[in-house]
Amino acid sequence: MTAASTRSKTVTLPSGERVPAFGLGTWRMGEQRSRRREELDAIRLALDLGVTLIDTAEMYGEGGAEEIVGEAVAGRRDGLFIVSKVHPANASRKGVAAACERSLKRLGTDRIDLYLLHWRSRTPIAETLEAFAALKQAGKIRHYGVSNFDIEDMAELWQAPGGQGIAANQLLYNLTRRGPEWELLPWMRERGIPLMAYSPLEQARLVASPALAGFAEANGMTPAQAALRWLLAQDDVIVIPKTAHPDRLRENLAALDGALTAGQIAELDRLFPPPDERTPLDML
Ligand SMILES: NC(=O)c1ccc[n+]([C@@H]2O[C@H](COP(=O)([O-])OP(=O)(O)OC[C@H]3O[C@@H](n4cnc5c(N)ncnc54)[C@H](OP(=O)(O)O)[C@@H]3O)[C@@H](O)[C@H]2O)c1
Repeated sequence: MTAASTRSKTVTLPSGERVPAFGLGTWRMGEQRSRRREELDAIRLALDLGVTLIDTAEMYGEGGAEEIVGEAVAGRRDGLFIVSKVHPANASRKGVAAACERSLKRLGTDRIDLYLLHWRSRTPIAETLEAFAALKQAGKIRHYGVSNFDIEDMAELWQAPGGQGIAANQLLYNLTRRGPEWELLPWMRERGIPLMAYSPLEQARLVASPALAGFAEANGMTPAQAALRWLLAQDDVIVIPKTAHPDRLRENLAALDGALTAGQIAELDRLFPPPDERTPLDML
């Protein structure tokens, strides 16, 4: 692939809509007043550099991250794909509707592009799905989906009305968290459901991995780029690394300027082996 074509790499949602394979995460943003400027600048720089997918959640900074995203996207909302998440405590019919209104207000927008249930709730999934369907009908969300749903959760969801309408499952997935490859990812692939890989850098721990550093150095890329390229080598995986630093943002984004060879992927399989048994889904 050429640099230009990888920069615009997309993943196809079940609806046929194509979304960017690279987005910006926002966990830990909006928590400290003193960091607000830096975080706002980072999101604005991401937009300037062509990033159009932003992942946030009502939980992050107790609404603070959504507020920063709202401020950053003010006046340039069109063309963006904003993902937010409802907290499981708000997963009831009324709770979802109210939470979505609050998120829309903080984001300063009239629609959320993809609205996810953050993790499984005690509220029956059928009720949450009904609430999502109503929001979609009202044009307040464009797509809905789930996060941290393991295979049993997905099987249950699939049987519920509207369950087969999900657009994505956002999961902890990176070189050191390959558990989903055993059963969950193949299950999702059979049904055309994309995986949004959260903590793709294992919250910076991967960047510090001597094994990955050695691989990256030998292959002319940075560890973060290697970790992101490994995920981006899969057609149905969206990565959402978070950074509030301009240099790291540029570095992460440059992961799109190249792709791993089959040999490099095989080497990473040796360094970070795929699962050889089923393990419960990890969550951060
Ligand atoms: N659905 C869920 O349950 C769930 C859970 C976790 C995360 N998420 C989403 O996924 C996003 C990404 O996950 P994450 O934030 O947990 O972890 P991550 O993206 O794997 O790593 C973020 C951490 O790595 C640092 N970092 C970023 N780029 C770097 C680079 N090139 N070199 C060195 N350090 C770098 C960041 O620090 P600086 O900001 O200081 O650069 C930050 O501390 C979140 O922000 C959130 O939107 C969703």
